[in-house]
Amino acid sequence: MGVGHYAPERVVDNHDLEQWLDTSDEWITTRTGMKRRHWTSEDEATSDLALAAARNALANAALQATDVDAYIVCTVYPDFLFPATACIVAAKLGAQDKPAFDIEIACSGFIYGLTVASSLIRAGVYKRVMLIGAETLSKLVDRNDRGTAILFGDGAGAVVLEASHEDSFLASELGSDGSRPELLRLEAGGSRVPMTHAALDRKADRIHMEGREVFKFAVTKMIAATDRALEKAQLAKSDVDVLIPHQANKRIIDAAMKYLEIPPERCIVNIQEYGNTSAASIPIALSEAVRDGKISANDIIVFVGFGGGLSWGAVVWKWVA
Ligand code: ACO
Repeated sequence: MGVGHYAPERVVDNHDLEQWLDTSDEWITTRTGMKRRHWTSEDEATSDLALAAARNALANAALQATDVDAYIVCTVYPDFLFPATACIVAAKLGAQDKPAFDIEIACSGFIYGLTVASSLIRAGVYKRVMLIGAETLSKLVDRNDRGTAILFGDGAGAVVLEASHEDSFLASELGSDGSRPELLRLEAGGSRVPMTHAALDRKADRIHMEGREVFKFAVTKMIAATDRALEKAQLAKSDVDVLIPHQANKRIIDAAMKYLEIPPERCIVNIQEYGNTSAASIPIALSEAVRDGKISANDIIVFVGFGGGLSWGAVVWKWVA
C-alpha cells in the first residue's frame, strides 16, 4: 500500500573516514562499493528513524496510523532492551492501542519480517500491517576499527502491507545457523555477557565480525535462498523482474547475481549512498526503487538477505498494483 524511508542528515563519506582511520576512498570503494553513509546524531535513536520512515510510508499509502492493525520493527539496535521499539513508534504515531513488537534477526530482519507480516495477513489475523526496518549501527561500531567502521550506516525503511484480492507473497525461504555466533556478533549487554567494566574495556560492546568468513557464507546463502524460494514459487530465474538484495558489499551482490544470471539492470543497488544499514537496507532500497519508477505492476521481485545469526532468507513477491 505504501513505502517510505528516512536517513539521518549527517553524511560521512570515505574521505571523512580517511581523517581518522588508516583507510582510503580507493580501498573502500573497490572492496565494498560504498562511497557514503548516513550517521545519526548523538540524540537520535532507532525509533526516531523508524518513526520518520513510517510517517512517509503512511503518507505514501494515504492512510492514518490508526488504520494500521499492527506494527513490527526489525532492528538489532532497539532504543532499549525492552520495551520494544515498535511500541514506541506506534505510540508516537498516535496508534498506542495497536499490537506492536520487534524482530531481531540482524540483517535478515526485513525478510523474516515480511514473512511474519504476510502470514498474519494471510491467516486473517490483521488486515493491515506496518513493517519497518530501522538501524543505528554507527553507534554500535568501534569507530577506530577500520574493518567495521567503514561498513555500517544508519537509516530506516517502512512498508504498509494490506490484504488483497491477489496474493503478493508467493514464497519464502528462511534459514539460520547459530553454531558459530562469534563470526558476527555484539557480545556484551545480554544475559550471557552482562555489560560490565571488564566487557567495556575489551570493547565487547562493539560489533565484531570475521569479514572473510561472512563474505563466503553470504554469497553461498544468497544464491541458495533465492534458488529455493523461486523453486517454491514455481518460477525460474528468468522470471525475476527486480532483485532487491541486502546491501552489505557490492562484491557479494555481484558474485551472487553472476551465478543467478540476473543482469545488473534488474538488481537494485544503493550501497554507495547508505553503506550497510542492516535490517533497513532492503526497505530503503525498495522505497527508492518505487520512487524512481523502477518497479511496475505485476513485477516479480525477489528480496534476499543474510546477516548475524548467522541467518538468511529470500522472499518472492508479486507487485500487485
Ligand atoms: N581500509 C584499508 N585496509 C583495510 C580495511 C580498510 N577499511 N579493512 C581491512 N583492511 C586490510 C586488512 O587489514 C587486510 O590487510 P592485510 O592483507 O595486510 O592483512 C586487507 O585489507 C584485506 O582484508 P580482508 O578482510 O581480507 O578484506 P576483504 O576483501 O575480505 O574485505 C570486508 C573486508 C569488506 C569486511 C569483506 O570481508 C566483507 O564485506 N565481508 C562481509 C561483511 C558482511 O557482509 N557483513 C554483513 C552482515 S552485518 C550484520 O548482520 C549486522
